[in-house]
Amino acid sequence: MKHPVDLATALRPRPPSPLQEIEDERFARRGVRLLLKRDDLIHTTLPWDTAALGPVELYPPGNKWRKLAPNLRAAAAAGERALLTFGGAYSNHLRATAAAGRLLGFATIGVVRGDELADAPRNPSLARCAADGMRLHFIDRARYRRRADPEVLAELHERFGAFRLIPEGGSNALAAQGCTELGRELRGTADTVAVACGTGGTLAGLAAGLGPGQRALGFPVLKGGRPHFLQETVEELQRAAFGGPRGDWRLEERFHCGGYARRTPELDAFATAFEDRHGLPVERIYVAKLLYGLTTLAEEGAFAPGSTVAAVITGTP
Ligand SMILES: Cc1ncc(COP(=O)(O)O)c(C=O)c1O
Repeated sequence: MKHPVDLATALRPRPPSPLQEIEDERFARRGVRLLLKRDDLIHTTLPWDTAALGPVELYPPGNKWRKLAPNLRAAAAAGERALLTFGGAYSNHLRATAAAGRLLGFATIGVVRGDELADAPRNPSLARCAADGMRLHFIDRARYRRRADPEVLAELHERFGAFRLIPEGGSNALAAQGCTELGRELRGTADTVAVACGTGGTLAGLAAGLGPGQRALGFPVLKGGRPHFLQETVEELQRAAFGGPRGDWRLEERFHCGGYARRTPELDAFATAFEDRHGLPVERIYVAKLLYGLTTLAEEGAFAPGSTVAAVITGTP
């Protein structure tokens, strides 16, 4: 059956997201320039008449777009019509996949961590997924941890039929390849490029796309259970995507503020003040920790005077 949307046009590369310099005395005092790579503003106008498809602002912006687009292209090329992916109850990635599926004509299935949520009222994030047509399937946490096991996947296939599997957070080899474009857009602009990390696909691709002499700095927002877990995950993603290590990157693990979606009074105060000072709405789960960590490092003198730091703004509140 013909795909309902012209995917080649819909999934063509977007123009580079804007780069914006801001004045912040905590950086300026140290002779460091601060740039914001506004991936939250990635061009979202869809190139076809969306009247029948609904509001375009739900189209996934930023790193979600960069990670999903190559997976959707591969699914379309293989004639696949359904996407299955995984996430927690507040997953940005589940929402992005649901929105992309609705707009681009894929059926979507979201496997959600926590079977206790099945009968609870839907939170706004899961309600949005359902409104975008995603079938939600709740599984218990022990099973969720084993989501990559052949036995669990076989069960999902039995229940839902054929689908393209996209891992939690959308991070796989194709996603990392998609994020190289982010690095390429930043070539020659900054000495250090910083990004918040969840599942690591964005950092894996960003680092691979940067030019010589540039380094990438990842700020994990999760408190890893196992030491160096994310380090190994990013290395593995780079092996799968590029055949081996790429680029100069490292993780700065001091700024998870207690773990995923955890906040501290200092983090909140910092984010509110940053919003007031720069008029930038600060997404709290990822972007706030990135900016908080970077600013602390600048105040500690971690960046050489005369150097430039770019922070990738991956999402909106
Ligand atoms: C706003 C935002 N920033 C950063 C990330 C981290 O991306 P990754 O999971 O590729 O490390 C995510 C998750 O996809 C996100 O939603």
